Amino acid sequence: MKKYKIAVIVGSLRKESFNLKTAKAMMEMAPESLDMSLLDISGLPMFNEDLEGNPPKEWETLREKISDADGLLFFTPEYNRSVPGVLKNAIDVGSRPYGENSWNGKPAAIVSVSIGNISGFGANHHLRQSLTFVNVPTMAQPEAYIGDASALYDDNGKLTNDSTKEFFKTYLDAFEEWVHTIAK
Ligand SMILES: Cc1cc2nc3c(=O)[nH]c(=O)nc-3n(C[C@H](O)[C@H](O)[C@H](O)COP(=O)(O)O)c2cc1C
Repeated sequence: MKKYKIAVIVGSLRKESFNLKTAKAMMEMAPESLDMSLLDISGLPMFNEDLEGNPPKEWETLREKISDADGLLFFTPEYNRSVPGVLKNAIDVGSRPYGENSWNGKPAAIVSVSIGNISGFGANHHLRQSLTFVNVPTMAQPEAYIGDASALYDDNGKLTNDSTKEFFKTYLDAFEEWVHTIAK
């Protein structure tokens, strides 16, 4: 069976991040054909086009890792009804230098995770907008808005909610099909 490399990108740097816990829960449940690994975006210098002549090594590493992936799975918190700066910065860094967009054509899906009950809808759709521009075909359905996240995990960070587990399975099955259809 062909294995597809999936870069898992989490837009929170918190150790106890609910997005990270959700990413880990989904990684544990990953379908056999999807080989998922976390792509670290912490410590990525802020994008500044003036540095492109001699880019920071962290930018180059990120661009290589994106290029190496067959697909992308994003987990985003919502900050002030949008995407956290750290995640937007990663999108910007990966999209340049001009004409060398590392994201180009990679199948993706977005999960937003929030402690609130609007479930990161704003961040989810702002991220979708940026991904459209960098030519990332992003799965439309099912959508994943995970709200009230603090109630879903035990003290060890394990997902305890059975209906959420069921939903994650459905979501991952659809993502697997999406990746198989689009990945080159
Ligand atoms: C600067 C900031 C802005 C926030 N804005 C929102 C928001 O617009 N909508 C929302 O649902 N939660 C908001 N929150 C609360 C986050 O949902 C909460 O901090 C969540 O735990 C972040 O995800 P994480 O656990 O993965 O770090 C905000 C939190 C911070 C720190």
